[in-house]
Amino acid sequence: MSEQPYSDKVMDHFRNPRNIGEIPDASGIGNVGNPICGDVLRLYIKVEDGKIIDAKFKTFGCAAAIATSSIVTELIKGKTIEEALKISNRAVAEALGGLPPIKMHCSVLAEEALRSALKDYYKRQGKTAPFDDSGHSHENETCI
Ligand code: FES
Repeated sequence: MSEQPYSDKVMDHFRNPRNIGEIPDASGIGNVGNPICGDVLRLYIKVEDGKIIDAKFKTFGCAAAIATSSIVTELIKGKTIEEALKISNRAVAEALGGLPPIKMHCSVLAEEALRSALKDYYKRQGKTAPFDDSGHSHENETCI
């Protein structure tokens, strides 16, 4: 049995992250950081006709932060804003085949970056985001 704490899918997205980079004419940009570990994530989304048609990211983060950022860009591409808003950090972790409990907080970074990018999208449209930052769907997991 393997001693590897990460699933094969986490290792795949860590070694071969999808959608790294920036979108110069992004419709929304999310910037989030974990104040304790110092990891940061910037997520770019391109929206057309209410659908996310492209997503890219840049991160200074741990292996789990890289893998969760990578998978979240894949999860949201082709989704409507409303569908993307329903993606929780747990859904991100599940899409990777799970994360060790000690690394679940890293998936929170991906969820927060997504919400931050969507909030920025609404702001650029001159609208108020139909969600409240205090109402995160994730549990209050802290960085160790
Ligand atoms: Fe801080 Fe992974 S996001 S250790």
